[in-house]
Amino acid sequence: MIVLGIESSCDDTGVALYSSEHGLLAHQVHAQNAIHAPYGGVVPELASRDHIRVALPLIHELLASTGLSPKAIQGVAYTKGPGLAGSLLVGSLLARSLAYAWGCPSIGVHHLEGHLLAPMLENPQPSFPFLGLLVSGGHTLIIAVKALGEYEILGETLDDAVGEAFDKTAKLLGLGYPGGAKLAELAKLFVAPVSGAPALNFPRPMTDRPGLDFSFSGLKTHVAVEFKKQTALLGELPESHKIAIAHAFETAAVDTLLIKIKRALAQTGYTQLVISGGVSANIQLRTKIAELSQHHQICAYFPRFEFCTDNGAMIAYVGCQRLLRGEQDGLDLTIHPRWPLNSL
Ligand SMILES: Nc1ncnc2c1ncn2[C@@H]1O[C@H](COP(=O)(O)OP(=O)(O)OP(=O)(O)O)[C@@H](O)[C@H]1O
Ligand SMILES: [Mg+2]
Repeated sequence: MIVLGIESSCDDTGVALYSSEHGLLAHQVHAQNAIHAPYGGVVPELASRDHIRVALPLIHELLASTGLSPKAIQGVAYTKGPGLAGSLLVGSLLARSLAYAWGCPSIGVHHLEGHLLAPMLENPQPSFPFLGLLVSGGHTLIIAVKALGEYEILGETLDDAVGEAFDKTAKLLGLGYPGGAKLAELAKLFVAPVSGAPALNFPRPMTDRPGLDFSFSGLKTHVAVEFKKQTALLGELPESHKIAIAHAFETAAVDTLLIKIKRALAQTGYTQLVISGGVSANIQLRTKIAELSQHHQICAYFPRFEFCTDNGAMIAYVGCQRLLRGEQDGLDLTIHPRWPLNSL
């Protein structure tokens, strides 16, 4: 079965073709960063308008790149939620229309299920059951993944998502929007504490009590207080000071994730760990998870870098699995801007 996947939950238009026989055939992502950067965050109306502008031409290009005709497509998958209502509507209406025109079924996919199962596009891939750590711009979840569609949330953030904390800290340091990846690049330049100053050590929130929930807004505030303190003393901060702050923030955020993951592995007894979502591209996180997997005989799986953030491939993959199980859309047309993963 060959499935076209369309992702349009936020500010990336992703399209992909996935074959149940041959795996991923092709994919393309159009990012809208340049449109939203001047506003310091995503402007929903501009996001939906840009999805309308680029989605269909992107699908034409995708088909042309594989030499496939629409007749070869046996299903159309799209992101049904959670996400921005306008953006979701553009993708779902386009997907439903194409499926109708091509005479094939369509299927609405949960965006987070897409992220969670993105490592299934790699080789080797995990097998059910496994522990999932989903770390993205909007979510921080520890999930017991028992089977396709069987997800038990073991822990989640009580306030900011970890990706959001990366973005807000990056903004504070003047790195622009979205700044998570840029903050990680800056943190990589760290070699030693600023000469004469004590090493920065930000708190690892909620690790001093039992449980698997997270809270990142306090960490973000800690960084802001330190930044203001240093700025009051020095004025515009030299690069070395920004690097030290970026590194201390990244280390605190990554250590917090590690502490909770170790707990969750001990609690569940799972020996496979899947890390996905935009923050799974973080090199310090990947390095520390690699160390953890060596010491604890755990197999860790990540998506390839381009599939950490939003993409159509993960939607095409999940859509294909669900269509193969006999699921498909009915005649009603709904999107779910809010949609808990454990309600699937
Ligand atoms: N190397 C990196 N280190 C840390 N964070 C990163 C890195 N690369 C990307 N991110 C963060 O990943 C996030 C984007 O990920 P993703 O596209 O999965 O989130 P989203 O789609 O906005 O949110 P959600 O999937 O929860 O709706 C941003 O917050 C970004 O800062
Ligand atoms: Mg996402």
